[in-house]
Amino acid sequence: MSGINYSDKIPNNVNLSEDRVLQRALEHWQPNYLNWWQTMGPENSQTADVYLRTAVSVKPDGWAHFDYVKMPDYRWGIFLTPRDGERKAHFGDNIGKDVWQEVPGEHRANLRRIIVTQGDTEPASVEQQRHLGLTAPSLYDLRNLFQVNVEEGRHLWAMVYLLHRYFGRDGREEGDALLQRNSGSEDSPRILGAFNEKTPDWLAFYMFTYFTDRDGKFQLCALAESCFDPLARTTRFMLTEEAHHMFVGESGVSRIVQRTAEVMNQLKTDDPATLRAAGVIDLPTIQRYLNFHFSVTIDLFGADQSSNAAMYYSAGLKGRFEEGKRTDDHQLKNDAYRILSVADGQLREIEVPMLNALNEVLRDDYIRDAASGVARWNKVLEKHGIEFRLRIPHKAFNRKIGALADVRVSPEGQVLTEEQWRLHQNEWLATDEDRAFVASLMGRVTVPGQFANWIAPPVIGINRQPVDFEYVRFN
Ligand SMILES: [Fe+2]
Ligand SMILES: [Fe+2]
Repeated sequence: MSGINYSDKIPNNVNLSEDRVLQRALEHWQPNYLNWWQTMGPENSQTADVYLRTAVSVKPDGWAHFDYVKMPDYRWGIFLTPRDGERKAHFGDNIGKDVWQEVPGEHRANLRRIIVTQGDTEPASVEQQRHLGLTAPSLYDLRNLFQVNVEEGRHLWAMVYLLHRYFGRDGREEGDALLQRNSGSEDSPRILGAFNEKTPDWLAFYMFTYFTDRDGKFQLCALAESCFDPLARTTRFMLTEEAHHMFVGESGVSRIVQRTAEVMNQLKTDDPATLRAAGVIDLPTIQRYLNFHFSVTIDLFGADQSSNAAMYYSAGLKGRFEEGKRTDDHQLKNDAYRILSVADGQLREIEVPMLNALNEVLRDDYIRDAASGVARWNKVLEKHGIEFRLRIPHKAFNRKIGALADVRVSPEGQVLTEEQWRLHQNEWLATDEDRAFVASLMGRVTVPGQFANWIAPPVIGINRQPVDFEYVRFN
C-alpha cells in the first residue's frame, strides 16, 4: 500500500493503528521529539510559515504536496516503500533466500547498531544547522534549509520506527538516546565525527549538503539492499528526499562560484583581498572549505580494512552501492581490491580481500560521484573564462580514520613531514580567518527575490514557483 494515513496522530503507511502497543510507544516518543525540535531545531523560526513539501504518497512520481506550514506542525511520519512479496536476498551467504520481515536473532545487535548509527546522523545535522536561519541569503535559500531540516527530522522518525517496531525495549531506549546525544556536546556527542563539527555559515552548509548528505545517499543505498526488508524499504523512500538535499548543496556552491566569477570579471582580478573587499568569496577560500568537508566526510565510510564490513555483507545486512547492477558473484569470497596503505612513510597500493575492503569500495564509489558535481562547478568557471579549477583533494589528505590517518599528505597526494604540513596547512584547510571573513558576509535577506551579494540567484524556483515567490512568511 502506498497511501498515507494523515488522520492518525502519526502519519504513516504501515497500518500503525493496528498495532496498539507500537502506536502507544511512538505516541509517547512524539512529544519528546517535538520538545527536541523546539530546543535544538531551527532557531527563532518556529512561528514562520514555510513553503514546504510533505510526503503524500511513496510513489516515485508526485509524492510531494507543497504548502505553507509552521515547522513544528510539519507532519512527520513513517513512510516505507511498499513491500515486494517476491524480494530475495541478492548478495552474501543467503543469496536466493527470502528476505527477512523480522530481525534474525543472530543479527540483532549488528542491525541495531547500523540503524542507530544512521539514525544519529539525522538529528545531528539539524542541530549543526540550527543557527543558519538567522543569516539566510534569501527566502528561497531559507526555505531550502528548512526543507532539509524537517526531512532530516523525518529520517530520524524512519529509524526510530524501526527501533520501536523490531527491537523491543532496547529499541525504545535507543530511540530516547537519539534525542539525548547532541552535536558537539562534550558529555554526549553524536556518534560520528563529521556530525560534531560546526556548520557555522552558508558556504559550510552548501558544502555539507553537497558532500556529507551524499555520504547519506551512499549509506542509504547500501542499506536499501539489505536482507532486513523493513530497513531496505524505509531507506528507499529516504533516498527520494535525500536527492533534494544534495541539489541544495550542489546548486548553492554553484551559485557562489558564479557570483565570484562575475565579480572577478567585472573587476578584472583574481586577487583574494580585492574580491573579499567587493563582498564575494574568493575561489581559494571555496577550495579550502571543499578540502575540509570532503576529507571529513570520506572518513565517515570507516576503516579501509574492516572485518565488520565483511561480516555485514556476507550476512546480508548491508550491500554495495547499486548491488543489483553489478555482474560479479555477489559473494566476493575470491575477489581482491586495491587499497592505499602506508609503507616506509610512502603511499602504496596493496591488494587485500575484497570483503574486508568494502568500506573502501563504498568510499571510492562515493568519490567518483562527488567528483562529478565539482566538474559542473568548474563548468561555471569555464563559462566565465576563468582558469582556476576546483579540485577534490587526494583521498589520503587530512584523514583521521584508517591507515591513512597515520600520514600527512598534501591535496595533490604528496607525503609530507609534520613540519611541511604545518607550514602549508593554512593554504589547504579553511582557517579561522577564512571562516571569520565568510561569517562577516552573512546577514539575513528577507525581501522576496533579493539575494545576498555573495551568491547568484537560482535559475528557477521551487515547485515551479517564481524565484521572487514569498517562500517564507514571518509572523
Ligand atoms: Fe537524512
Ligand atoms: Fe540529508
